[in-house]
Amino acid sequence: MQVFVTRRIPREGLAALSQAGVCSIQQWDSDEPIPRSELLAGVAGKHGLLCLLSDRIDKEVLDAAGSNLKIISTLSAGFDHLALEEIKKRGIRVGYTPDILTDATAELSVALLLATCRRLPESVEEVKNGGWTTWKPLWMCGYGLSDSTVGIIGLGRIVPLAKLAEESDFVVVTCSLTPDTKGMCNKDFFSRMKKTSVFINTSRGAVVNQEDLYQALVSGQIAAAGLDVATPEPLPTDHPLLSLKNCVILPHIGSATYATRSAMAVLSANNLLAGLKGESMPSELQL
Ligand code: DGY
Repeated sequence: MQVFVTRRIPREGLAALSQAGVCSIQQWDSDEPIPRSELLAGVAGKHGLLCLLSDRIDKEVLDAAGSNLKIISTLSAGFDHLALEEIKKRGIRVGYTPDILTDATAELSVALLLATCRRLPESVEEVKNGGWTTWKPLWMCGYGLSDSTVGIIGLGRIVPLAKLAEESDFVVVTCSLTPDTKGMCNKDFFSRMKKTSVFINTSRGAVVNQEDLYQALVSGQIAAAGLDVATPEPLPTDHPLLSLKNCVILPHIGSATYATRSAMAVLSANNLLAGLKGESMPSELQL
């Protein structure tokens, strides 16, 4: 059997795949995204595909792969880059990597929350540019976490969005991107938030209406935002959100610890291998 791997991945994942002796591997061996034409050519005739969240796996790719393709294993917890209806129609199984990145992503959410509400990037910049002239009682003040209410969208108990927006000092979005959550954080949502509240998104950029977020930040409707995800990714360097001091933007590094990325690579390899052998996957997406 033949598989195509769309990027250079942590070596533990590739080792698991090659040492199993189940498949021959063709890989786009680069840290940079595979060009679309290479993806279409590389996937042709393959039985398995190991891809990343930045690879759009749509009808065109599935057609290019042809009828051999039985397993898609994505090295991600998110699956909004996969055309699930088309995939299901063709009887292709999907593996993904939820749960093992929860701790790393939660840590990053807390780090981003603190960096945003305590204005760390702005403060670092002031040290470098000479803005730090003396200690001033009102300078670089932000919002602290003590005695605050943090509303988390995407965690367990469902709280109506409007209530969550109205009652939280900090809103953290962690839910998956689905047709239901797309654009969910919009003008109406931001208008319900307190003027002193801080908005954090570590899920997917498209959960947020970015024009509405920009207006909420510029008009002072909300105090600040911290984003680990954006639309598009990467965000163009001249994007209006990057001009705002009260918006901290990170390059989608929620799961970026060595241990987590290695575990994700091994799990995605094991999902692929199990699928190729017709066994149950350690982590299969139910379609
Ligand atoms: C995922 O796996 O979907 C995450 O967004 C990566 O950090």
